[in-house]
Amino acid sequence: MKADKESVQKVISNLLVNSIKYSRQTGETKVSFYDMDENILVEVTDNGIGISQEHIPRLFERFYRVDRSRSRDIGGTGLGLSIVKHIIEAHNQTINVRSTLGIGTTFGFTLSKAR
Ligand SMILES: Nc1ncnc2c1ncn2[C@@H]1O[C@H](COP(=O)(O)OP(=O)(O)OP(=O)(O)O)[C@@H](O)[C@H]1O
Ligand SMILES: [Mg+2]
Repeated sequence: MKADKESVQKVISNLLVNSIKYSRQTGETKVSFYDMDENILVEVTDNGIGISQEHIPRLFERFYRVDRSRSRDIGGTGLGLSIVKHIIEAHNQTINVRSTLGIGTTFGFTLSKAR
């Protein structure tokens, strides 16, 4: 991939840590890589607590956390996803999320291939 290695490591580790923090009893995280012609699509999928649709539009904002009381117990600042988005956009790429409450969450982002 044509990308800053440390930045990409930061993106993937943020998404992995979230998938563990917001997991349920028997949590599982899957990381998939898809060959998309010009790009590589990376997806991080978990079967954790999920996020309800009302929160999706604000999820990548700085300091935004879905459930303040629950999040306080888990710990964190609410900065992780804003940093992730910033890094992906600095690479002129996109990140998106799809989620179902109680079922799980998938974050997907693209990076351009090295040629
Ligand atoms: N995989 C996930 N499953 C369910 N909820 C998630 C997931 N990832 C993020 N969230 C929700 O989105 C919010 C924002 O995530 P973000 O990574 O920006 O902050 P954080 O994890 O709370 O803190 P930080 O990453 O700064 O330690 C989280 O507080 C959580 O409510
Ligand atoms: Mg986080």
